[in-house]
Amino acid sequence: MSIRVYVPRDAAAIAVGADKVAASIMKEAAARGIEIEMIRNGSRGMHWLETLVEVVTPQGRIAYGPVTPRDVVGLFEAKFYDGAGGHALYQGLTEQIPFFAKQTRLTFARCGLIDPRSLEDYRAHGGYAGLEKALAAGPVATVDQVFKSGLRGRGGAGFPTGIKWKTVAEAKGTQKYIVCNADEGDSGTFADRMIMEGDPFQLVEGMTIAGFAVGATRGYIYLRSEYPHAKVALEAAIEAAERASYLGDRVLGSAHAFHLEVRVGAGAYVCGEETSLLESLEGKRGLVRAKPPLPAHVGLFGKPTVINNVLSLAAVPHILAEGPEAYAAFGMGRSRGTMPIQLAGNLKHGGLFETAFGITLGELVDDIGGGTFSGRPVKAVQVGGPLGAYFPRALFDTPFDYEAFAARDGLIGHGGIVVFDDTADMLKQARFAFEFCSHESCGKCTPCRIGSTRGHEVLDQIIEGKNPAANMALVEDLCQTMKLGSLCALGGFTPYPVLSAIAHFPEDFALKKHHLEPAG
Ligand SMILES: Cc1cc2nc3c(=O)[nH]c(=O)nc-3n(C[C@H](O)[C@H](O)[C@H](O)COP(=O)(O)O)c2cc1C
Ligand code: SF4
Repeated sequence: MSIRVYVPRDAAAIAVGADKVAASIMKEAAARGIEIEMIRNGSRGMHWLETLVEVVTPQGRIAYGPVTPRDVVGLFEAKFYDGAGGHALYQGLTEQIPFFAKQTRLTFARCGLIDPRSLEDYRAHGGYAGLEKALAAGPVATVDQVFKSGLRGRGGAGFPTGIKWKTVAEAKGTQKYIVCNADEGDSGTFADRMIMEGDPFQLVEGMTIAGFAVGATRGYIYLRSEYPHAKVALEAAIEAAERASYLGDRVLGSAHAFHLEVRVGAGAYVCGEETSLLESLEGKRGLVRAKPPLPAHVGLFGKPTVINNVLSLAAVPHILAEGPEAYAAFGMGRSRGTMPIQLAGNLKHGGLFETAFGITLGELVDDIGGGTFSGRPVKAVQVGGPLGAYFPRALFDTPFDYEAFAARDGLIGHGGIVVFDDTADMLKQARFAFEFCSHESCGKCTPCRIGSTRGHEVLDQIIEGKNPAANMALVEDLCQTMKLGSLCALGGFTPYPVLSAIAHFPEDFALKKHHLEPAG
C-alpha cells in the first residue's frame, strides 16, 4: 500500500523550495522502493514551518518542517513515512501544533487539508453542501441567511454583506454581475491567495451562491497579476465545476445559470478599490468613480453588481451549510464570525491564524506570533494594510473588532498585521505612507494627488531639520485636508498611519529634530 504524503503547492511554500522538496521525496522513495502517493495541498498557514511535509498515519497527519531538499535523505533514514518521531524536524500531529490548535477554522477548515485540484476531495469535506441548501431555500432566504450571519465585508470597509446582496437582488435589470475582489493589495496580507490556491472550489461555490441569491448569471474574479499560482488553481477549479454542472447554464440541474471567469489586473493598488476595479475590469484605466451611484445599482458595464472580497465570498458556503446562527455565535459586538488574521513582518511565528473576533492585538503578537523574529522588543504594529494606523504596545489590549479599532483611530481592514521592532524609525514610516499614496494615487482628486506628494516633501524637510515645528503643523493640516477632501479611502486614510506615528511615537519626530538641529 502506498504512503500518502502532502507537500504544499502554495506560493509561499514554493518560494522556500516546496517543489524541490516534493521532487526529492519522490526520487528518494523510488530509489528505496517505497511507494508514495504525493498530494500537493494548500498551506496550513504556519509559514515558519514551510516547507511543511505531512504524512498520513493511523493517528492522523504527522508534520515535519521546515523541510529543505537537503533534509529529505535524513527524513527517509528516520522513517518519516511511518510518522516516526526521531527526527529534529518532527512536529507531531499537525492539528496539535499550538498555533494550529488554537484556531477556529471556518473559512480555512479545508485549506491545507484537501487536494485543491480535486472536486471529489472538496465534496468529501463538506463542499457544495452550502450551494445545495441555497438552491433548496430559494434566493430570498439565501440573502436572508447571509444577513443573519452578521457577515461583514472582509476587504476592508466591513460593510454588511447581506445588505449589499439585498440591494442587488432588489435592483432592476435583467443582467447582474458578481465580482470577486482578489486584488489583495494590502501589505502583509495573503489570506485571499491562500484560499484561492488551497481551497479554490470554496470561492467558486461562494460566488455561485451569490449569483443565485441576487439573480446574477455571470461572475468575474479580478485577480492581482502577482498571483500566477492562484490563477492556475482557480481556472482548474472552474473547469472541474463546469464539467460537473456546478457552473454552467443549469447549475445542478436548476433553472439558474452561472458562468465564471478569471481576469488578471496589472498591478495598481488603487485597482483594489471597488469602482476603479470595475473600470479596470471594463478595460479602462483604473480611475475611481464617484459614488453614488453605488456599484450595487450601477456597477460592471453599468449593471447592478455585487462586489465582494475573496474572504467574504468564501465564508458564504459555510454559513449556508451550517446555518447563520452557527456563524454568528462567534465574535463580539457587531463583528460576527471569524477573521482569518495574517501575521507578518518581524514575527517569530508568521502565518494565517483564523479566530473569532475579540482576540486582543497583544495576544496575537505576543502569544500567537511569539514576539519578534529578531528577538528585540516590539515597537509598533501596523494593522489593516498601508492605510492602517501604527499601534504601540500601550494599545495591545485592543480587541480585534471593527468598532474597537475605529474607536482608537485604527482599522482592521483585511486583517493584516505587520510587526516592527524597536529599530523601526516611525518618521520614515510616516514618510513612506505619503510616498506610497503618491505612487498609487489614481490622480482623480487634488487632496490625494497633490497632498501625498506635498506630504513626503514636507517630511523630507523635517528629516533634514528644516523648520520642524512649522512643518509638523503643515503635516497635520495636510492630513486633515486629505481625510476630509479625498474621494476615496486611499487619500482619505493615508493620514492614519502618518498621524498615528506622530501621536504614538513623538520621540522619533523629536529625536530627529534634536539630532539635526544645531546645538544650543
Ligand atoms: C485604495 C483601496 C484599495 C482596496 N483594495 C482592496 C483589495 O485589494 N481587496 C479588497 O477586497 N478590497 C479592497 N478595497 C475595498 C473595496 O473598495 C471594497 O470595499 C471591497 O471590495 C468590498 O468587498 P467586501 O464588502 O466583501 O469587503 C480597497 C479599497 C481602497 C480604497
Ligand atoms: S483619493 Fe486618491 S486614489 Fe482616491 S480618487 Fe482621489 S486621487 Fe484617486
